Amino acid sequence: MSQSEMICRCFRVSRATVEQAVDVLGAENVKDIVRITEAGSGCMCCRCKIQELIEQRRAQNIELELA
Ligand code: FES
Repeated sequence: MSQSEMICRCFRVSRATVEQAVDVLGAENVKDIVRITEAGSGCMCCRCKIQELIEQRRAQNIELELA
């Protein structure tokens, strides 16, 4: 998955934007991502992908903190 990969096509939100919302703004769930980026608030078919990405990113961040 590349940084520029489009996660939400309805609102043209990329993977990098979702990751930044997690890293910088502390988004913890899909609801946070919707509030911050609008991704997931249209057809909603990207919500599973957003949830997956949040979990991956948070796990990576925890690993970095523990290293
Ligand atoms: S693709 Fe994200 S709300 Fe439609």
